[in-house]
Amino acid sequence: MTDQEFLGTLELFEQLHILDHYRSLSSHHKRSFLDANRDLDLHLAFQLYRKFCGANPGAVDPAMISPPDIICVPKGAPQNTDASAVLATGEALLRQQKVAVLIVAGGQGSRLGFEGPKGTFPLSPVRGKTLFQLLSEQVRALSTRYRVPIPLLIMTSTDNHQDTVGFFRQNGFFGLGPDAVHFFPQGVLPAVSPDGRLIMKDNIHLYTSPDGHGGSLKALWDSGLLFKMIDSGYEELFYCQVDNPLVRIADPLFLGHHRQALSQVSTKVVRRRSIEEKVGVYLKLNGKDAIAEYSDLDERYMSALDDGGEILYWAGNTAIHIFSLSFIRELNKNGFALPYHCAKKSAYIVSSDWEPATIDVCKFETFVFDALPFAQKTCCMEVTREDEFAPVKNKEGNDSPDTARAALTALHRRWLTRAGIDVPEGTRLEISPLYALGPEDVIKKQKGKKLTKPAINGDVYLE
Ligand code: UD1
Repeated sequence: MTDQEFLGTLELFEQLHILDHYRSLSSHHKRSFLDANRDLDLHLAFQLYRKFCGANPGAVDPAMISPPDIICVPKGAPQNTDASAVLATGEALLRQQKVAVLIVAGGQGSRLGFEGPKGTFPLSPVRGKTLFQLLSEQVRALSTRYRVPIPLLIMTSTDNHQDTVGFFRQNGFFGLGPDAVHFFPQGVLPAVSPDGRLIMKDNIHLYTSPDGHGGSLKALWDSGLLFKMIDSGYEELFYCQVDNPLVRIADPLFLGHHRQALSQVSTKVVRRRSIEEKVGVYLKLNGKDAIAEYSDLDERYMSALDDGGEILYWAGNTAIHIFSLSFIRELNKNGFALPYHCAKKSAYIVSSDWEPATIDVCKFETFVFDALPFAQKTCCMEVTREDEFAPVKNKEGNDSPDTARAALTALHRRWLTRAGIDVPEGTRLEISPLYALGPEDVIKKQKGKKLTKPAINGDVYLE
């Protein structure tokens, strides 16, 4: 958009207070203002504002809900020939270099009370490895195991892009090599006040907010990375959030189920801990698989129990998916398909009289799981929470660093127990992804031995 078109658009949407502000600036600052804001999609922001008028549009119509089909897989190692065949299918995809990995890391760790990109949070119990290191080392271990490059795609936001790239550089890309890691920032949209006015964040910048993790599927297209992957022969994209240190990156069993079902988007779910747990719920909406965010689902459905007293809609969203790259292409082909949600949140700005202030704003974002109803084929797989899901969301209490560390320790203790090794209760314990990706690796390396590397002040660390 040209400078004149941008100023004309502000006038079109009656943002006269912004135009007044612009006119009050020095010519140098006018230039900065135009350069900083000219490319923002004001048309989309006001189209969405008019659609929602500040209200939450998401509420799900209960009449459309029914239970979904979910594969309840045997826990742990496959126990029958069917499961072995599924595993073989997934492993073949990895070996044939068909799989890339995407971590969405655009959010700030605000609930966690952590300054800086959430992926740089030190998490592991003994070595204090960051979330980024734990996940990157899994990718490296898989790459070594299957003898193929596995591209690691990391979605950042404009706020944390530089810090994230800098962090990987400082840490030698955790052994992955700079060419194997691809960073791309998600899009932003201007936020609007509840009465429909654009907001200045400071003297130069309009207030914007990231366009949600659904924006990853759009940014892959916009950045050209999608085509780069497709042209290089990749077919499947393993997707996860940066906040879950237990995630099994590119789990071959999950890949196998996805491929055997000819699924375009697959999801791992866990049993909801309680009716209060704040997770999305996997269900059928109008006959199509979908995920409804807890805040959009009627209380009666969130708390409904079956005849046995168990939670009826039990499948909680782990935000672990596999997307077929061709499906992501379909979602973008005729303009980005995902619907936008409107969230009323508070925002920190410098007000016109230069006082910092917190105000209410309407932010617009897309959710990646809204891709589900667009798919012809989907696949949903239950996994054990203790083995695969311990997100770091809050500073304390549920879903905090403490609970995630305890879950990692307990997981690794179970792996060692399966290899016949008992570690005394209370010992801090950590197994590097470079040493083992699962219990079978520990069994192979440790069976029949005494624990060979008990070091670090009585803590156990296997690398
Ligand atoms: C999310 C899911 C919820 C699921 C839970 C599992 C939504 C709306 N809900 O909840 O269904 O059960 O995870 O842990 O997502 N992110 C970006 N860019 C953005 C927004 C988010 O990269 O614009 C990333 C964040 O870095 C974070 C992740 O997405 O890693 C989750 O976002 P968050 O808003 O924290 O969602 P949750 O409330 O945790």
